[in-house]
Amino acid sequence: MTNERKATLTIEGQDPVEFSILSPVHGNDCIDIRTLAAKTGMFTYDSGFLSTAACQSKITFIDGDKGELLYRGYPIEQLAKHCNFLDVAYLLKHGELPNAKEKQEFVAIVKKHTMVHEQMAKFYQGFRRDAHPMAVMVGVVGALSAFYHEAEDFSDVEHRNISFNRIVAKLPTIVAMAYKYTMGEPFMYPRNDLGYTANFMYMMFGNPCEKYEPNPVLVHALDTIFTLHADHEQNASTSTVRLAGSSGANPYACISAGIGCLWGPAHGGANEACLNMLEEIGDVSRVPEYIKRAKDKNDTFKLMGFGHRVYKNFDPRAKLMRGICAEVLKEQGLENDRLFKLAMELEKIALEDEYFIEKKLYPNVDFYSGIVQKAIGIPTTMFTCIFALARTVGWMVQWEEMISDPEFKIGRPRQLYTGTPARDVPPIHQRDD
Ligand code: CMC
Repeated sequence: MTNERKATLTIEGQDPVEFSILSPVHGNDCIDIRTLAAKTGMFTYDSGFLSTAACQSKITFIDGDKGELLYRGYPIEQLAKHCNFLDVAYLLKHGELPNAKEKQEFVAIVKKHTMVHEQMAKFYQGFRRDAHPMAVMVGVVGALSAFYHEAEDFSDVEHRNISFNRIVAKLPTIVAMAYKYTMGEPFMYPRNDLGYTANFMYMMFGNPCEKYEPNPVLVHALDTIFTLHADHEQNASTSTVRLAGSSGANPYACISAGIGCLWGPAHGGANEACLNMLEEIGDVSRVPEYIKRAKDKNDTFKLMGFGHRVYKNFDPRAKLMRGICAEVLKEQGLENDRLFKLAMELEKIALEDEYFIEKKLYPNVDFYSGIVQKAIGIPTTMFTCIFALARTVGWMVQWEEMISDPEFKIGRPRQLYTGTPARDVPPIHQRDD
């Protein structure tokens, strides 16, 4: 990995210092500055991690200029076409797609773990019925650590495997229970005769009084949505999971931290925010007004579902999601849906606008995923929970990669202190306890 080339840093008044350059399999070379502080007494300043690789990883690769996303080397387009979500989960975890036997075993293990501890159902009762489901998710997923203690021995590979299988299996149940709780409907036990995503739809939309069979077109669409969201290298929530895990915290606590981060509107919360924005715009005639607001420096409004830190050409997930969107709307007879038409108009105008062209702002995955999920019948507040369900696979795999890395250290960024210089407490302040 070490390149022949060296980077030389010249700081006024100091001797030049050399750093190795590391060449990855794909992507930008990295200057290895781990010895910078020892050699120069200086830190680097890179708030927002605009130029910093925080770890080595073998899991996912994004080429933002090409609009390319690879899981373990496979293009997302091929995975979405040929594999289901559990195949992709296996691939992310084990590095290879499963053969027939491995697949059968993995599916069987996941099915075995779909139920949650009966006591967990009581845990939900502590939340207000109108609590945001993501708040419930943060609490319930974090609470898994109170139910499954053996997860605390991370040095044991088998325990890590069990934690992975367990959390992948239970997330659909937990998400569906969060939904049922808000609706005031009874929780549905999983049906293990159904596939992973069909079972999730059953737990969401079924009820004990009526027969419910998931629609295969919608199951296929939702399963693909899961695949598209399964991992996305070192994004904010994944970095949160890694940072939380770097202290040795248990994986359930780390995933809960990741869910909290994902919730924000600049990240996974964008799908909910995007749909709310479309509702607020309301009509095609108002699109120019909102485009104008998005461009106004003095207005905090942003076009939700547009822009990405890494993709500067197009988001390949958005391209696939656009196709899924058309399929789902057709299946549901919603081709003339008001919000979909509005979204298409907004997309068209934004893509032709000089501001968006110049800043390389394209629709991202969240621009379409909200419309698809709404058409499937999933309520807006559940959108980010669906994202969290899928991303849990990536978070768990990234967490495990981190703690298995021989170079692993607790994450501890430094800072550029800009506060008040050191001073003494004035004598007038005397302790009175
Ligand atoms: N609408 C209007 N202007 C925008 C937008 C937008 N959606 N996104 C970025 N800009 C402008 C921004 O104001 C800045 O302008 P200037 O150069 O004049 O200061 C410029 O474009 C660069 O943006 P940035 O915020 O510095 O870029 P970033 O890489 O820090 O942020 C982003 C990326 C995704 C947070 C941002 O584009 C955004 O807030 N988009 C809307 C929220 C959204 O859709 N998020 C989902 C991301 S994809 C799903 C996921 O992986 O989580």
